[in-house]
Amino acid sequence: MLRTHTCGELTKKDVKKEVTLSGWVQSRRDHGGVIFIDLRDRYGLTQVVFDPSHNKDVHHKAEHIGREWVLQVTGHVRDRREGMVNPKLHTGEIEIITDALAILNEAETPPLEIEDRLPASEELRLKYRYLDLRRPIMQRHLKMRHEAMQAVREYLSSNSFMEIETPMLMRYTPGGARNFLVPARRHPGKFYALPESPQLFKQLLMVSGCDRYFQLARCLRDEDLRADRQPEFTQVDMELSFVDEQDIYNIIEGLLAHLFKKVLNKNVKTPFARLSYEDAMKRFGSDKPDLRFGLELADVGDVVAHSDFGVFKSVLDKKGVVYCLNAKGCGKFSRTEIEQLEAVAKEYHLPGLAWAKVGKNMTLESSIAKYFKPEIQHKLCVTLGAQEGDLLLFAANTFAKALTALGQVRLALGQKLGLIKDDEFAFCWVTEFPLFEWSEDEEKWIAMHHLFTMPKEVDLQYLETNPGKVHARQYDVVLNGTEIGGGSIRIHRKDIQERVLNVVGITYEEAARKFDFLLNAFRYGAPPHGGLALGFDRLVALMNGIQDIRECIAFPKNKAAENPMDGSPGDVAEKQLRELHVKVDILKKN
Ligand code: AMO
Repeated sequence: MLRTHTCGELTKKDVKKEVTLSGWVQSRRDHGGVIFIDLRDRYGLTQVVFDPSHNKDVHHKAEHIGREWVLQVTGHVRDRREGMVNPKLHTGEIEIITDALAILNEAETPPLEIEDRLPASEELRLKYRYLDLRRPIMQRHLKMRHEAMQAVREYLSSNSFMEIETPMLMRYTPGGARNFLVPARRHPGKFYALPESPQLFKQLLMVSGCDRYFQLARCLRDEDLRADRQPEFTQVDMELSFVDEQDIYNIIEGLLAHLFKKVLNKNVKTPFARLSYEDAMKRFGSDKPDLRFGLELADVGDVVAHSDFGVFKSVLDKKGVVYCLNAKGCGKFSRTEIEQLEAVAKEYHLPGLAWAKVGKNMTLESSIAKYFKPEIQHKLCVTLGAQEGDLLLFAANTFAKALTALGQVRLALGQKLGLIKDDEFAFCWVTEFPLFEWSEDEEKWIAMHHLFTMPKEVDLQYLETNPGKVHARQYDVVLNGTEIGGGSIRIHRKDIQERVLNVVGITYEEAARKFDFLLNAFRYGAPPHGGLALGFDRLVALMNGIQDIRECIAFPKNKAAENPMDGSPGDVAEKQLRELHVKVDILKKN
């Protein structure tokens, strides 16, 4: 070993020991001939002193050292002088007085500061990711990710799960996210698909009798990127046989509780809150509600139907909805503040956000107040529990548009009022999703999750007559307003599968061509089964109190799905294309 200790461990109890440290130069200060260097490795910083009166040669050698040079120093641990102690540092009471110095490598001036307080631009950070990762905060994120992975493996292994790897090269199957395709050199004109998830394979493993499968699975999806989406990401992917929803909830709650205890030493309260999709939308305007704060929405359609306000009435006539958010105590908001909330609603496709301040005796103060008779104003206030000084915000539109927009206004308001605590973790299950949704574009029913999700038994009777009424045995697990996982109980019986396929206009034979390997396998005794996948990157990011999952991925892509460091995606030689039987003929837009 080129060191006896790390740069993060020496303290007062080590004084007088002879030690050897290796690491990078964080900073170098020359104090009247005595040189101080902060030597850094992933464990911390240690102050190293080069004093000419102690060792002239070594001091001379240290005179030309620059930032990020790699050093090996040997010396003695000693107490820092009065006034030089740094209580913020674990090693802050000691320093090393150097007897020998080896320069293991020199370094060019780094293009970015290796400093948590001075993060560089995003592009620079990604281009020089290996330097960005030297920053202590990034080291902490990587370490926490590692610990979370170990905790997942520990928990699932001790609950009889087997970790099984599934193929990265598979046949393209439709549905789900867009796949990346890989030309097959040995099969001209044919392509492998990279898995957007191991969904089909994990179901096959249930047919194989594996009973409880998990995998820290890499998933690849060619989709537009957002803060919580990357083209390659990791799932804690699971599938179980002979289970119902409650078994899945128990396992996931146990796993998350174990993870939070092990990694953050936080106690997670189980069981998690449970909401139906409809309730989540109606109360919070989101199918991934942030339950860290209240500000619930309320249906005021029945009350405002009796008003003279044309906008509300025409929406209700068209079977739309009118919902209201009572912003408690926000009657003091300025017009600009209200307009900022309206801008949020508009961003989510609501034409406008009607509002009214609540005055004395449950009266409304607003340009629209004149359309509401005093008794309706009173009834509105009673329905909403509104008092003088509150601000009422109304969204009128279709169910999805009105509630989604008002849900976003709720989030913006929660932020603005400081109701969202960063160190709080509020989990919930969202269940009872509709199995199908009507696609305006295709003018047909499409599966909301995927075609192999089991309908609820009680709703099977509506499959042919009223597909919109059928609920899926599907569940999402949500943390602080982010969907951290989702799954379902699957269809394992051919008769039900046929009926579900019929609704979306696919015959069993057509489906059998697209998903033959799965449906064939199901002919040989498929057990009832279900599963779930946790978005591991999202989970680790939230555990760190951040939204951008790239902060917890060693080498992520930028928003354009490029890696500025390795330059991917990149060109390949003509010869390689010929070998792959691929001819590039770029179709120019317009
Ligand atoms: P789903 O597509 O809902 O389900 O994915 C499961 C979880 O993975 C995370 N996730 C992502 N994280 C980062 N970047 C992305 N591009 C991305 N896409 C999804 C989310 C999501 O909740 N096979 C099913 C699971 C099942 O039914 O068992 C599946 O993949 O946190």
